[in-house]
Amino acid sequence: MTNNVIFPTEGTLASIDAYRKIGGYQILEQVLTDKTPPEKLLEEIKNSGLRGRGGAGFPTGLKWSFIPRGLPTDVYLVCNSDEGEPGTFKDRDIMSKNPHQLIEGMILAAYIMGATRGYNYIHGEIWEVYELMEKMVEEAHQAGYLGENILNSGFSFKLHNHHGYGAYICGEESALLESLEGKKGQPRYKPPFPASIGLYGKPTTINNTETFTCIPYILRHGGKKFADLGIPNNGGTKVFSVSGHVERPGNYEVPLGTPFTDLLKMAGGVRGGNKLKAVIPGGSSVPVVPGDTMLTLTMDYDCLGKAGTMLGAGSVIVMDETVCMVQALVRLSYFYYEESCGQCTPCREGTGWLYRVLKRIANGTGRDGDLELLISISNKIDGRTICGLGAAAATPVRSFLKHFRSEFEAHVNNGKCDVAA
Ligand SMILES: Cc1cc2nc3c(=O)[nH]c(=O)nc-3n(C[C@H](O)[C@H](O)[C@H](O)COP(=O)(O)O)c2cc1C
Repeated sequence: MTNNVIFPTEGTLASIDAYRKIGGYQILEQVLTDKTPPEKLLEEIKNSGLRGRGGAGFPTGLKWSFIPRGLPTDVYLVCNSDEGEPGTFKDRDIMSKNPHQLIEGMILAAYIMGATRGYNYIHGEIWEVYELMEKMVEEAHQAGYLGENILNSGFSFKLHNHHGYGAYICGEESALLESLEGKKGQPRYKPPFPASIGLYGKPTTINNTETFTCIPYILRHGGKKFADLGIPNNGGTKVFSVSGHVERPGNYEVPLGTPFTDLLKMAGGVRGGNKLKAVIPGGSSVPVVPGDTMLTLTMDYDCLGKAGTMLGAGSVIVMDETVCMVQALVRLSYFYYEESCGQCTPCREGTGWLYRVLKRIANGTGRDGDLELLISISNKIDGRTICGLGAAAATPVRSFLKHFRSEFEAHVNNGKCDVAA
């Protein structure tokens, strides 16, 4: 693959020498030597059409323009490497295989926004990646790319790695900031948004690992070249984490707009030549899509959005014909019940309620009216919580019932599973 932005075509770039050999840190050196105006660089980011790779797809250039300039205050930069949603496993691979491109991306972002300190918040269950990032940051520091007065440019930026403890909620940006400050990881009310009141009350930009990792490519080759890798309104490549019932699960970097069938082929197809039953294309919180429909879609924000689902974090969970959709939903619901931080009553109580109703349906003791009850609980969680975890718990329930209702009805009516039987 020659169009890769993120992943090296072979081997690993987990050393500063390997990264420099492919031109790493050249654009940073050039920007700092030429003292390129940050506004000019921001224009390139806007031209690239880069959209946040953490889930919501918010335009990165626009987000960066919200940071107030010229105020006598610290500005912070935070990388969200918390990656805890079922189906997601790209950021750990990005940090393992191409850590310096992330570091260079963060330094360039800091230069553009005038940030002097940055934090990379790494999921607590990938300790070896945290240790590797510690080494890589030290390498960058020794090479003079981090610290005071970088390359005698007058620009200073310090970068710290911070590991969480594996709580999914700490991937929500304001809970992440609370956790970084040493408090319980619970989301904050918004507004104010982090761009005005973020870490330690200062203006803060938070982006996903993959988002920052795209930056050196964009500034080196120009925003247009990045945009042209994808399709209109969906610039660049995207790393898709393909898991579930495929022959070769893994991370695949492809241009946005790639047909799902091509991605599936790269992952070796459905295991054992089985029939595709369903796909969750963006991580467990996005709506499930029936297999036949999925085979007609392309992997980009617009096509998936029109089909009633989302690209999310690009975590593609493939399910074949052997899957009992009731059992699959029980498993997902347990995750959200377990991971609710408990701050908002509808989420704290509702996620447990969903799980208990689903469990009794799966166990063959479902009651008349249970499916309506599930929808009613979901509707009462969604939109009534401080953060998006509530909606993330409600969405799978509604979409599984929308597309696979007869399977749930069979469980309630017959007390057993037709699929597994
Ligand atoms: C419950 C919850 C969990 C989240 N987990 C992550 C995560 O692990 N990684 C991530 O980048 N974004 C996560 N997000 C989205 C972040 O709040 C935020 O939008 C994102 O980091 C912004 O980066 P981007 O603009 O580069 O996408 C989560 C959101 C919610 C509601």
